[in-house]
Amino acid sequence: MLEKIQETTSYIRNKIDFEPEFGIVLGTGLGGLVNEIEVVSTLLYRDIPNFPVSTVKGHEGHLIFGKLGGRNVMAMQGRFHYYEGYSMQEISFPIRVMKYLGIKLLILSNAAGGVNPEYQIGDLMIIRDHINLMGSNPLIGKNDTGLGPRFPDMSDAYDKNIIRHATKIARNHSIHFQVGVYAAVTGPTFETPSEYKYIRILGADAVGMSTVPETIVARHMSLPVFAVSVISDLGVEGKIVEISHDDVIDAASLVEPKMTIVIKEMIEKMEPLQV
Ligand code: HPA
Repeated sequence: MLEKIQETTSYIRNKIDFEPEFGIVLGTGLGGLVNEIEVVSTLLYRDIPNFPVSTVKGHEGHLIFGKLGGRNVMAMQGRFHYYEGYSMQEISFPIRVMKYLGIKLLILSNAAGGVNPEYQIGDLMIIRDHINLMGSNPLIGKNDTGLGPRFPDMSDAYDKNIIRHATKIARNHSIHFQVGVYAAVTGPTFETPSEYKYIRILGADAVGMSTVPETIVARHMSLPVFAVSVISDLGVEGKIVEISHDDVIDAASLVEPKMTIVIKEMIEKMEPLQV
């Protein structure tokens, strides 16, 4: 694993002379944030050694380097999902590479189904905790102690100070937001009404098919994480309607400008991060 990470990191460093401070993963329908980045350089996933290639519509595979809010960022436009058939290690590999390229904070975004009855389509939900219902974990297998501990702590997976910072910014812009728990499932099926109910009973506010493996790998390496969901549909009794991937993309695209304001200003106003 370490060798692969080093090979990929060296390839990127040879192509680009750039020190990213923040790593951003853009979820389904949320790629619009890259329009706010003053792009210095772009790499295609297919040219990067050891990178998987994204297969899902709405997930173009570009690694973008540039300035956002005056700070150095790298952004993954297009992420990898477990349901595409990659292993847990493969989908989270780019997070390892970002850490080795020097990022100090990982920012994850996704589209998710709201299961909290108070939620509405179009809400932004700042993730305060997660429930892994994927039936797997990217850290299964031999542990490389050079990367992190065998049994990583998860009591503080989503950085509380950064959540406070983000909520202040959202309030200043009168952006309506929720703070909640994200449950991750494998997909690719959306949930049955009974599954949505079960996920709610377990303690989640929203459900989606990503983010958790990336958070786990980041926390394994002691990298702080901030994550946000846009609520693209509702898994709430009486409000469940037939949905498609296109519906999720469309709904997420509508909320994307609000998410972009929060992330951009959050980065702009963040004290330099030490890890
Ligand atoms: N369920 C699972 N994943 C999702 C959903 C959902 O309702 N919406 C967007 N991603």
